[in-house]
Amino acid sequence: MKKTPFEEFGLDITKRSKTLSKDPKFQKAKQSFHDHLSKSKYAYNFYWMGVPIIQTPVETQALHELIWKIKPDLIIETGIAWGGSIVFSASMITLLEACGEIRNGQVVGIDIEIRPHNKKNLAVHPMSKKIIMFEGSSIDPIIIEKVKKIAKNKKRILVHLDSNHTHNHVLAELKAYAPLVTRSSYCIVEDTGIEDDPVNANLGKAFGKGNNPKTAVWEFLKKNKNFKIDKDFESKLILTGAPDGYLKRIK
Ligand SMILES: C[S@@+](CC[C@H](N)C(=O)[O-])C[C@H]1O[C@@H](n2cnc3c(N)ncnc32)[C@H](O)[C@@H]1O
Repeated sequence: MKKTPFEEFGLDITKRSKTLSKDPKFQKAKQSFHDHLSKSKYAYNFYWMGVPIIQTPVETQALHELIWKIKPDLIIETGIAWGGSIVFSASMITLLEACGEIRNGQVVGIDIEIRPHNKKNLAVHPMSKKIIMFEGSSIDPIIIEKVKKIAKNKKRILVHLDSNHTHNHVLAELKAYAPLVTRSSYCIVEDTGIEDDPVNANLGKAFGKGNNPKTAVWEFLKKNKNFKIDKDFESKLILTGAPDGYLKRIK
């Protein structure tokens, strides 16, 4: 059957991504970008609706594409920081509602410490009515139970993990929250790129090479066949900090 122009456009993206992911010049540029990413704090240069968001514009674009495609009525995020990423998710939920795609959309954000100035700022933000925040560890069983309760009546759920980047913590988050992801939706695991990043490997942080979100994803996938890494999506992004971090629920 003849493809529509939109289908052709999508196929072109897939073809181009495959070519670019093998292009040595592009791959060299990508490595060089990542070598400078953490040290330069480039990801701290941006805002969403006036709130600092610790994501590169490529990651924000990626989130937008996935949210529009999946149309979740619940987004669960670990790691709030200033609040930019939960405000971003809430703004996408608001758009989905305005377009009649979902009803009663919500964002749940969890952070071990929500600083008073962030709490105050988020409380008066226009997106606040779409956001529920829990302060505490994302792997605290009490918080996990609260999130599960909210997830109970939702139709499509997307999870976004961006808190403590150690292997054990991310693995525990994956075990707690990935089962809530609905079929065809995603569990996005940020900062998997630490595994490939020589700068971060030597920063003396709690995480580094061999102990980071990517190693947690690999271990999680050994026993969880409901998810697969969406390499097609990743390869078109090129400058992603989440290689092997876009986990699609396939069953
Ligand atoms: C990278 S920042 C999150 C950035 C945010 N997602 C954004 O895009 O703007 C990581 C956050 O994780 C939080 N965090 C660290 N350990 C945590 C834990 N055990 N549970 C929940 N949050 C934690 C930190 O307080 C910090 O605010």
